[in-house]
Amino acid sequence: MSRKAVLVTGAAGEIGQALVQGLAQTGDYEIITSDLMPLPESVRPLTAEHVQGDLVYRVKQFYDYDFDIIFHLAASLSSKAEVATEEAHRINVEGTMQLLMLAAFKSERYDKEVKFLFPSSIAAYGFPDLAAKLAAGRVREDEWNWPHTMYGCNKLYCEKLGMYYSLYHGQKHLNPNPPRMLDFRAIRFPGLVSAYTMPSGGTSDYGPEMLHAAARGEPYACFVRPDTKISFMAMPDAIKALLMLMNARRERLTRMIYNIDAFSLTAAEFRERAMRAFPGAEITFDPNPRRQGIVDSWPEDVDDAAARADWDWRPDFDIDRFFEEYFLPEIRRRYEK
Ligand code: SER
Repeated sequence: MSRKAVLVTGAAGEIGQALVQGLAQTGDYEIITSDLMPLPESVRPLTAEHVQGDLVYRVKQFYDYDFDIIFHLAASLSSKAEVATEEAHRINVEGTMQLLMLAAFKSERYDKEVKFLFPSSIAAYGFPDLAAKLAAGRVREDEWNWPHTMYGCNKLYCEKLGMYYSLYHGQKHLNPNPPRMLDFRAIRFPGLVSAYTMPSGGTSDYGPEMLHAAARGEPYACFVRPDTKISFMAMPDAIKALLMLMNARRERLTRMIYNIDAFSLTAAEFRERAMRAFPGAEITFDPNPRRQGIVDSWPEDVDDAAARADWDWRPDFDIDRFFEEYFLPEIRRRYEK
């Protein structure tokens, strides 16, 4: 069987590196990557080609390729996007629009199915105030879609663009013989934590930053209050979810945008776990009002019943397994080296 051609944008980022490894492990894909940055040496040998540069200007080049699947991960994350809003909009929206146009063109012109996997975020949600967040509990995909950040607005709009290009572009739903399709599928990720890489420019970064600092024996001042609670997930579960959604049969999918959930905890609980694992750790709290405001607008927890029903989503790592079986063993190995 010939290998499917996959494009991974933002491949040098946290999800990107882990996804390239996950795809390569299956042996079923020819992996082309793109990123502003060079691809780290640890993943370079797993890919057929890396296109380095600004995606918005590089997309033209990809019209010569014949991708079966596109993972569009390149983005400016929420804290960074808030200080450079126009640039974030260009990267997050224009980049997505260009790639969707490419995928729509390929699917319509050559009557070919192109799957388009998009990482959306809990940042697509927004509560008017903390009381509403605390009262809301687990939110479903169509509730509270009122983001407070440029990044969240970009993600929510790109979800809509993906749906538009999949369903209505060229008003293809009116065509008696619709072309094969651009098949857009998105996951709203919670905060992600990897034992190998560090996020940059996000607002859920206090979780991974705190844990990595504790493991390295460095002091850490957490930029949100101890009672701040959002949901988090181990990076291997995030990759598992992307691959499961990619492989899910179209007929089973009742929606294009899915929540997924693993565990929720407060920043104080994060600290407690870190202190238990690394007893000498120095972790203090020094809330930054702007970043605090962002996480206060994100849900404490999300309802992932649709993902569980439609594509059998289950996380491998709950809070205990995350620490005991993934993060702590991996990080100890890493920093002991
Ligand atoms: N984790 C991301 C951020 O903090 C949200 O998707 O920006």
